[in-house]
Amino acid sequence: MDIPLSQAEVFKFANDNTFVRIMENIRQRDVFIIQPTGAPVNDNLMELLIMIDACKRASAGRITAVIPYYGYGRTDKKDQPRVPITARLVADLLTTAGADRLLTVDLHAGQIQGFFNIPVDELTAMTIMADYFKAKEIEDLVVVAVDIGISKRARDVAEYLNAPLAIIEKRRIDNADHSETLNVIGDVKGKVALTFDDEILTGGTTVNAGHALLECGVTQVYCCATHPVFASRAYEAIAESKFEEVVVTDTLPLNPAGDVEKVKVLSVAPLLGEAINRIHVGQSVGELFSSRSFPEFPNRPA
Ligand code: R5P
Repeated sequence: MDIPLSQAEVFKFANDNTFVRIMENIRQRDVFIIQPTGAPVNDNLMELLIMIDACKRASAGRITAVIPYYGYGRTDKKDQPRVPITARLVADLLTTAGADRLLTVDLHAGQIQGFFNIPVDELTAMTIMADYFKAKEIEDLVVVAVDIGISKRARDVAEYLNAPLAIIEKRRIDNADHSETLNVIGDVKGKVALTFDDEILTGGTTVNAGHALLECGVTQVYCCATHPVFASRAYEAIAESKFEEVVVTDTLPLNPAGDVEKVKVLSVAPLLGEAINRIHVGQSVGELFSSRSFPEFPNRPA
């Protein structure tokens, strides 16, 4: 956006309490606080809530929480007895702290928007990643949803890339981060597969999908996923996998220690910058996605 980042003091006292002080006058200003709530999730979330509170008490005109990666998004339903809906709790916390709007990217489930009683703009990085693969002009491409939950969005990617869609039937095993691939639904034999997901956490879903697809006769596997959560052995799993390339975005900071050659990071910064600008001046954000690319997008990612 070509504007300086506001100065703020953020630190923890010896008792582990987070302290925030905004170092400039923000009275009546349109404030955008950018904070992905990735690991350490609770610290990042609390820091965001405290910063919103500081801005509210400093008489900001409007506060938008810009959360490129919405942590706790996977805890979005009561699918077992006596479990929380933490994605909803986080929405309530943000609103209570004083956020007037939310700007986010590829929520785990679109319905999370409905957990908020304030306006929510959900952007998608799908077009950025799809454009990247379009430029590769891969022949005989098939887009693969790594589970049923992502199939609708994967279908949009498939349509965008003019490719067929296949779907993987996946089953989660208990509440641990394990999943197993049951079936590949669709015609993939002899094609180049591009798996699509919203996030990569342990890499289990993606790597299992890659194996299953190769067993079903695909010639090559590529992967794209918006959020590189990359916990535990994700980097090793990707490095050891048969994927040609794993394409993610920078909705979360990547651990530099985990540098893996086949991980390609595309930036959502121009997309977020454009959306922030539009929210600030009251222009449509939806228009950004109303055509098959970003024709009016000045800083379109390369
Ligand atoms: C789950 O439904 C999500 O869409 C992702 O598939 C999941 O978070 C990936 O996790 P992991 O990389 O640990 O398999």
